[in-house]
Amino acid sequence: MQTTPISVPGSVGDFDRKTLFAHERAAIEVGFSIIGSGSGARVLDMGCGRGRTTAVLVDEYRANVQAFDIDPAIVAEAARLRPDIGFRVDDATKLEGYGDEAFDMVCFPFNGIDYIPDRSAREACYAGVARVLRQGGVFVYSSHNRRALLANKDARRIFRHNLWRLLTKADMLYEPGRMWALPLWHGTPEAEATMLSKVGLEQVAVWSRRRDAPTEDPTAARREHWPYYVAVKR
Ligand SMILES: C[S@@+](CC[C@H](N)C(=O)[O-])C[C@H]1O[C@@H](n2cnc3c(N)ncnc32)[C@H](O)[C@@H]1O
Repeated sequence: MQTTPISVPGSVGDFDRKTLFAHERAAIEVGFSIIGSGSGARVLDMGCGRGRTTAVLVDEYRANVQAFDIDPAIVAEAARLRPDIGFRVDDATKLEGYGDEAFDMVCFPFNGIDYIPDRSAREACYAGVARVLRQGGVFVYSSHNRRALLANKDARRIFRHNLWRLLTKADMLYEPGRMWALPLWHGTPEAEATMLSKVGLEQVAVWSRRRDAPTEDPTAARREHWPYYVAVKR
């Protein structure tokens, strides 16, 4: 499959956490409860990076996981860390290599979907996810929330750096880094629900963190810079 390599600053080195985030675990567990169980579930882990979530899905939940990332360097790193798991280079906006209804769950963890550079490519990603999920299958992912840009120090830096883009309702906001700014989609929980519904996915849960404990409280979602979403294919 043809892919367009992109360079995600720090993608090999920075995301070396091995455990799940609290609200990420809550969302994954809701997903497994909807499809029945993790054990033997056919899971596609998109934007897998160094395989942080892939390893947990395989080791803890006993899922049958296929994993890919668009960045060949990070895929090589994932394969070095876990040679027993088959990692591939692929693009989440072009899922032609995967069959219709081939998966019970698709994951795009830790805001990987927000690196997709524009709205039409993001819509192509949702459409591909809907196609490869079986009826009743679940999509679990997180995405930046522009409603929460005053919630913490990191979010406030993005807010200050993007006043004009916020005023003009630009989809992509720039996260200022040491060397350059990284464009990241910033939506809202409501806009996510609308985009999902256009391809037959229903948003059924939004998970946030409160003092690092997971919560489904909608007031917490307004203050969560990157909520985790669970959507079901109807
Ligand atoms: C923030 S990292 C998260 C990595 C890993 N999932 C984790 O949670 O540790 C986002 C990942 O998404 C990948 N990515 C971005 N756009 C992608 C695309 N179109 N297809 C596949 N992977 C993509 C990046 O290369 C990067 O590894």
